[in-house]
Amino acid sequence: MNAPRILLVYGGHAGGRTEALRHALVEGLHEAGEALELRERRALDAGIDDLLWAQGLLLATPEHFGYMSGALKDFFDRTYYPAEGRTEGLPYGLCVSAGNDGTGTVNAVQRIATGYRWTAIAEPLIAVGAPDADALQRCRELGATLAAGLAAGVF
Ligand SMILES: Cc1cc2nc3c(=O)[nH]c(=O)nc-3n(C[C@H](O)[C@H](O)[C@H](O)COP(=O)(O)O)c2cc1C
Repeated sequence: MNAPRILLVYGGHAGGRTEALRHALVEGLHEAGEALELRERRALDAGIDDLLWAQGLLLATPEHFGYMSGALKDFFDRTYYPAEGRTEGLPYGLCVSAGNDGTGTVNAVQRIATGYRWTAIAEPLIAVGAPDADALQRCRELGATLAAGLAAGVF
């Protein structure tokens, strides 16, 4: 079987908290040592070609004003219609970095993912404040779940 193709789309500023979560997601992807192809894309640089390429998707975003980062919203705005009917069932995981909440982002992304007809691989993950060991471990587990599920043909 070919190595599963995984797209990681992320927002947040360089050197920030979302970046730390993203690195943990990637560690998790590689944890089991399964072969995989990974594209990591800043949300503003990610496009429909990346999305159609992907067999699994990870989203990492800070919460801004009770919502996802504008960059991730822009990714959805640009890909929603071009992807229509072409990414149904895509397994995805969501990771949110928030100052004190994160639920607005989770609700909005879930609603949008339902529109694309994607399948959540796990409960969305919210890391409040600076990511601690527990938050990073949960990110690693999310990444590992996606990689293992794709390798096993579960998703
Ligand atoms: C413009 C702006 C708006 C924010 N709005 C919220 C918010 O509505 N809810 C919240 O919990 N945190 C909010 N925060 C805090 C960020 O979500 C939090 O600091 C996050 O960890 C930043 O991730 P980053 O370091 O990857 O940019 C906001 C931060 C900024 C810069």
